[in-house]
Amino acid sequence: MMPMNKTLTTLALASAAALAHAGEIEVLHWWTSGGEAKAATALKLTLQKSGHRWRDFAVAGGGGDSAMTVLKSRVVSGNAPAAAQIKGPSIQEWAREGVLANMDDVARAEKWNELLPPVVADVMKYKGSYVAVPVNVHRVNWLWANPAVFAKAGVKVPTTWDEFFTAADALKKAGVVPVAHGGQNWQDFTTFEAVALGVGGTDFYKKALVQLDPAALKSPTMEKVLTTFKRVKDYTDRNAPGRDWNLATAMVIKGEAAMQIMGDWAKGEFIAAGKVPGKDFVCAPAPGTARAFTFNIDSFALFQLKDADKVAAQKELAKQIMAPEFQEVFNLNKGSIPVRMGMSMDKFDDCAKQSAKDFGDTAKAGSLVPSIAHGMAVPSAAEGAIKDAVSQFWNTDKMSAREAMDKIAVAARSR
Ligand code: BGC
Repeated sequence: MMPMNKTLTTLALASAAALAHAGEIEVLHWWTSGGEAKAATALKLTLQKSGHRWRDFAVAGGGGDSAMTVLKSRVVSGNAPAAAQIKGPSIQEWAREGVLANMDDVARAEKWNELLPPVVADVMKYKGSYVAVPVNVHRVNWLWANPAVFAKAGVKVPTTWDEFFTAADALKKAGVVPVAHGGQNWQDFTTFEAVALGVGGTDFYKKALVQLDPAALKSPTMEKVLTTFKRVKDYTDRNAPGRDWNLATAMVIKGEAAMQIMGDWAKGEFIAAGKVPGKDFVCAPAPGTARAFTFNIDSFALFQLKDADKVAAQKELAKQIMAPEFQEVFNLNKGSIPVRMGMSMDKFDDCAKQSAKDFGDTAKAGSLVPSIAHGMAVPSAAEGAIKDAVSQFWNTDKMSAREAMDKIAVAARSR
């Protein structure tokens, strides 16, 4: 009798202690599509396993524009979530506001400096201190194709822009939508930056779209990029305007469309639909970009909190995000690759393996470039204005490439 009672008492005391320290934290993200939701659930379960509570703050909308708008109003009203999906230069912008929490103790204990490529670690730090934790590496310059649809039209998945337009003509004749597209400005820009990289090359991409060099933004190469970009529109369907990216992916999954230019979160949709890579769908670098890699790194910035239990939960979340178990399960669902170096890729498919190899190779060769469409390169004001200008060009039949160049060059000066 006695030992049993003693055990129960010990257990009760232990769980009371655990409860006392269990914190609830609110996590803002925009992972609401099929594949994304699976990945988000992996994060939630990871936190819950360590005894803390997850309060979901999902704001639908690919690319995260709506999520960022909601976040701003919450922070302004003094009610920031514990963690929010914030990426690239925006991390610095938020840190400058003095609202982010210092995670150096977690980073030191978990050896983040040794586990992250320095280019990634630098983005997560403000004035030398960690204020955010990275989750993954997405490759943006991918083309997703339905091989059965290509076979039916008698064409190969394109590797150059010339091949792309030849294939697109044949696919159109075969009665399918050649390009699945969603007319939202971040999706327009995802296509635009793939064309810029494929047609202009990495040096042009860096000069024009990362350094925002006025001469490169108004150059014959830029004119060619814009003209090629606009040609792609002829191969999209009438219902593209406003369509969500995952519905565009669904068109490729169902064979209604042949291909989609999209980052590898699209793979998460194919996988969630039970499709097999290399068989039901294929991944190929966007035309002309096989030797380059446009990266998009998801990360969570941590906001300052008062409640000690919540701070404990927040630090646990940051710690778990970088843990190998989470890096594996999350990225298998998300379509991305682990950001933590030295992870085994055994369980990953060939698209992910190629991504991991190309990430390393392009980093060495200097052709690893940040995605503008996904907030990796340019301050948010300029990014928003450039995206608007590019979408205006996409949507306005009468606008010439030269007019668009002028608009983009003006937009690039937005601060
Ligand atoms: C994010 C991805 C997300 C995609 C579509 C990107 O900006 O980095 O994690 O899956 O938007 O919502």
